[in-house]
Amino acid sequence: MTNYTREEKGIHTDFRNNMTYADYLQLDGLLSSQKPISSHHDEPLFIIIHQVQELWMKLTLHELRAATVAIDNGDIQPAFKMLARVTRIQYQLIQAWEVLSTLTPAEYLEFRDILGNASGFQSYQYRLLEFALGYKKDAILKIYKKDQKIYDMLQKAFYQPSIYDVAIRALDRAGFDIHSQVLNRDYSKTYEAEASVKNAWKKVYENASDNWELYQLAEKLVDLEDALSQWRFRHMKTVERIIGHKVGTGGSSGVGYLKNVLDHRFFPELWDVRTEF
Ligand code: HEM
Repeated sequence: MTNYTREEKGIHTDFRNNMTYADYLQLDGLLSSQKPISSHHDEPLFIIIHQVQELWMKLTLHELRAATVAIDNGDIQPAFKMLARVTRIQYQLIQAWEVLSTLTPAEYLEFRDILGNASGFQSYQYRLLEFALGYKKDAILKIYKKDQKIYDMLQKAFYQPSIYDVAIRALDRAGFDIHSQVLNRDYSKTYEAEASVKNAWKKVYENASDNWELYQLAEKLVDLEDALSQWRFRHMKTVERIIGHKVGTGGSSGVGYLKNVLDHRFFPELWDVRTEF
């Protein structure tokens, strides 16, 4: 059998004049962004799990924004593709809690103090995600006053319609009778359930074959909210297993706060309508 060299097999070994994998991905920057401030063995896990979740959140926001524009332009099919990707990312994020669950209370306690008041509560990408889904609270914006660039970015997103707002516009365009107050609502307020929207979704579900795109859109939105609830639940349970009922580094009651957040519904009528069948 002939022994081919790597070059003969077509495998490059000289990248001097080409962009490399590390150049393209800016690996120098990426892999030097983990800077533990203690010498504790478990701190790299803590940093990386947060960074990985932030990276996936970045892609989620990218997809969600594009899906929102697509739905508003009536391009519902491309939006389905993006929403399917979002939900798969969400399952990666849910799964990520399994890795963090290997951190025991004793291990975490060894470096918790060095975190000071830093908390996932201050994750601005998570807030952008909530805004993109229609959950807006003035008090949340105030947290970011210290950093003008982030504050301006969040404030801009605060006044934008959510993916659910544009889904409701799609219902209106399809001829469903949506109350004008909903169509002209103030987008800087958290979306609240409204009867004409529930009736419209009910008709969509009752006549799925006549409203196939809207029916699928409803289910994609339910997939998204369902996965987000699972993420929140796994976060709450992981926190409980690591810090019990201690207060959070962000100053909240901790698990109690995270349990309360679980009750929020982004697309309320899509859940309410299920009781009606
Ligand atoms: C040992 C690990 C963790 C603990 C003990 C923990 C604990 C907490 C607690 C107690 C809160 C409530 C706010 C506070 O008082 O701090 C919170 C909020 C939050 N955490 Fe974590 N967390 C952990 C890991 C993570 C990770 C890996 C992420 C991923 C980015 C994350 C994202 C968030 C977000 C987005 C919030 C805000 C939730 C909301 O306001 O609805 N956490 N966390």
